[in-house]
Amino acid sequence: MTDVIDLRSDTVTRPTRAMLDAMASATQGDDARDGDPTVRDLEALAAFRTGKAAALFLPSGTMANLIAVLVHAPRGSEIVMEAGSHTLVSEVGGLSALAGTLPRPLPGRRGAMDYDRLREVIRRPGIGRDRAGTGLIHLETSHNQAGGAVLPLAHLAAVRDLADRHGVPVHIDGARLFNAAVALGVEAAVIAQHADSVCFCLSKGLSAPAGSMLCGREDFIEIARGYRRMLGGGMRQIGALAAAGIVALEQMVDRLADDHATARQLAEGLASLDPALVDPAAVETNLVRVDVSRSPIDAQAWATALASRGIRAGAYGDARQLRLVTHRHVDPAAIERVLEAVRSLLASH
Ligand SMILES: Cc1ncc(COP(=O)(O)O)c(C=O)c1O
Repeated sequence: MTDVIDLRSDTVTRPTRAMLDAMASATQGDDARDGDPTVRDLEALAAFRTGKAAALFLPSGTMANLIAVLVHAPRGSEIVMEAGSHTLVSEVGGLSALAGTLPRPLPGRRGAMDYDRLREVIRRPGIGRDRAGTGLIHLETSHNQAGGAVLPLAHLAAVRDLADRHGVPVHIDGARLFNAAVALGVEAAVIAQHADSVCFCLSKGLSAPAGSMLCGREDFIEIARGYRRMLGGGMRQIGALAAAGIVALEQMVDRLADDHATARQLAEGLASLDPALVDPAAVETNLVRVDVSRSPIDAQAWATALASRGIRAGAYGDARQLRLVTHRHVDPAAIERVLEAVRSLLASH
């Protein structure tokens, strides 16, 4: 039987041989008690790669974003963010339920919040006369809901400048920070320089089994460490996970360009089958949003039909969109199989 091609997410990537070897020989300290040397090495490497002074190993990107809000933003303050931000739509409202803050979603274009609207709503932090102050500006790059779009460096710089003028901190949800960096052809630190804190996931295209890093100033990370404990995120013998994370950062970043190439191959192939499905020019990284709204069947039916042809895909956006994500286990030959499956699916409807 031919292998299933899983395009639901880059989180399905399995650890590499080098990761498994590094995990087998990793240190086994109790990180939540007195620390683990491999975790410290991973944190130092993450800080270095993002140009920050310190970093903290966390179980997930969701916890990293939540802790960033907890540390930066006073209770009752507003978190200004693009309306489709993962933290707003897919993290179960933690910023309100657990951090006591108020999301202020702004419309955006390709994941970049409208700068003029931002200028209108931004306030000094603290309690205003009739409105809460801005506790944090939250950015996301690459942007999941915007089809893996990358925030332009000029946008980041403009937001940073505005934030500085109001004394407001900036956090970047960089779950796929290295995809953004590879797409822009810059080091991750060039993106992260515009934020007070940044997080990224080891568990997505970088192929580590689990874990995310939150990076920022030393005093920020010190408080974040306390919140990690509060949220139950202190982990014990995680030298093995950290060892995989180090391999992820050392060996798996540059190859993300391959995932971007397969995403482009997929988008161009789909557009040649039916131009209404996707605009290849909108595909900047490893995410392909397919618009099936003009097709006779909805996104869920597409996903079911593809599954019967050995391809797994996610249905989104009120049944009008499929999200296809390329990663290490999807090579150009697999993309040809996907295109063949879509061709037969279109022919049968
Ligand atoms: C943009 C973005 N932020 C945060 C997360 C959350 O990461 P995790 O699944 O590790 O909690 C994701 C996960 O898909 C994401 O795409």
